[in-house]
Amino acid sequence: MSESSSAGSGRPFRVAFIGSGLIAQHHMQLLKKLENVQIVAASDISEKTLAKVKEQFGVEKLYTDYHKMLKEVKEIDAVDVCTPNGQHATNCIAAFAAGHHVMVEKPMAMNAVEGRAMLEAAKKAGKQLVVGFQYRFDPKSKLIKDQIDSGAFGRIMYVRAQALRRRGIPNWGVFGRKDLQGGGPMIDIGVHILEMAHYIIGSPRPVTVSGNTWTYSGNQPCNVACQWPNWDHKTYTVEDLAAGLIRFDTGALLTIEASFVAHIEKDVWNLQIMGEKGGANWETSQVFMDQGGYMMNLTPGFLPQKDNFESKMKHFVEVCQGLRPNESSGEQGLMVQKMLDGIYASADAGSEVTVE
Ligand SMILES: NC(=O)c1ccc[n+]([C@@H]2O[C@H](COP(=O)([O-])OP(=O)(O)OC[C@H]3O[C@@H](n4cnc5c(N)ncnc54)[C@H](O)[C@@H]3O)[C@@H](O)[C@H]2O)c1
Repeated sequence: MSESSSAGSGRPFRVAFIGSGLIAQHHMQLLKKLENVQIVAASDISEKTLAKVKEQFGVEKLYTDYHKMLKEVKEIDAVDVCTPNGQHATNCIAAFAAGHHVMVEKPMAMNAVEGRAMLEAAKKAGKQLVVGFQYRFDPKSKLIKDQIDSGAFGRIMYVRAQALRRRGIPNWGVFGRKDLQGGGPMIDIGVHILEMAHYIIGSPRPVTVSGNTWTYSGNQPCNVACQWPNWDHKTYTVEDLAAGLIRFDTGALLTIEASFVAHIEKDVWNLQIMGEKGGANWETSQVFMDQGGYMMNLTPGFLPQKDNFESKMKHFVEVCQGLRPNESSGEQGLMVQKMLDGIYASADAGSEVTVE
């Protein structure tokens, strides 16, 4: 158990935030529901956001400079990093240097170089780095992973992963800025399905990646009725659509498709897995196998209804308290980051790239 852990001591587990925007506020809401967890401080460059956090969650120690927060607030066990992607590495490294465990929102970083530096900082500090992936904690993901781990599907050959929005360019934040986010739908929402798929099939080592990206709509004024109109097309420098093909050292292939804009009937958020003896469809919780001479479509009679975000926050606290292994580690985050890097690098090169 870590020396800064509160488990067994009776005192609360103390979390401080770097970045207190939309997702941080969701984290705060969920942390408040957990027993014996306290939000001791929050930082954000926006005073308005800090005022909201004070009003809604009663956070008293508020900072517009997170370095000052890390220096002045002594009673911190873990730092929750919820800034735009371009800040993740710097924020995490500062939090490790201050001697804290860290959870960082997805994607881990802008690229694998930053991700590796974060891992090194965690190791040097002897602290946990938890990557804030939530889809691996979804009961549907556990259902499929348990089938695979039990050997019921045999060898996994092919995975089809899709995070497709027909028209869903965020009209808030900096999600259209490549310099601040590292990319568009692939790094922002593709990462969810990719981390889940990779985890479910046992985190194999990616070997090569081929991919492409296309920008054709986000950089134009919004001219269609949609849920999030009037995005900032003038600063839009990310892709609208991206696709990648990843080959693993197991011989398995994974295709990933991600879009903010795609001319398809409706949004798709799904994962299909094909093994030699069985397969699955994530969205419908279906398992496919041959049994007694029939091709069977199986669904579980009971699947626990757990909110994956709640599970992610509980996992973060318990990992930092030394109560359970890190099931969303920096090492796993780095492999996901390498696959994302590979898709963007392959798009730039116009050819397949090798993953280091
Ligand atoms: N897991 C999920 O489902 C999920 C969902 C949404 C966003 N996210 C991730 O969370 C992160 C933040 O996204 P968001 O939607 O909350 O964006 P947001 O714009 O609402 O919040 C980001 C906040 O960071 C603040 N900030 C920027 N630079 C800062 C700095 N140097 N110090 C302190 N604060 C700073 C901004 O003022 C803003 O309030 C992104 O990495 C995003 O990918 C994850």
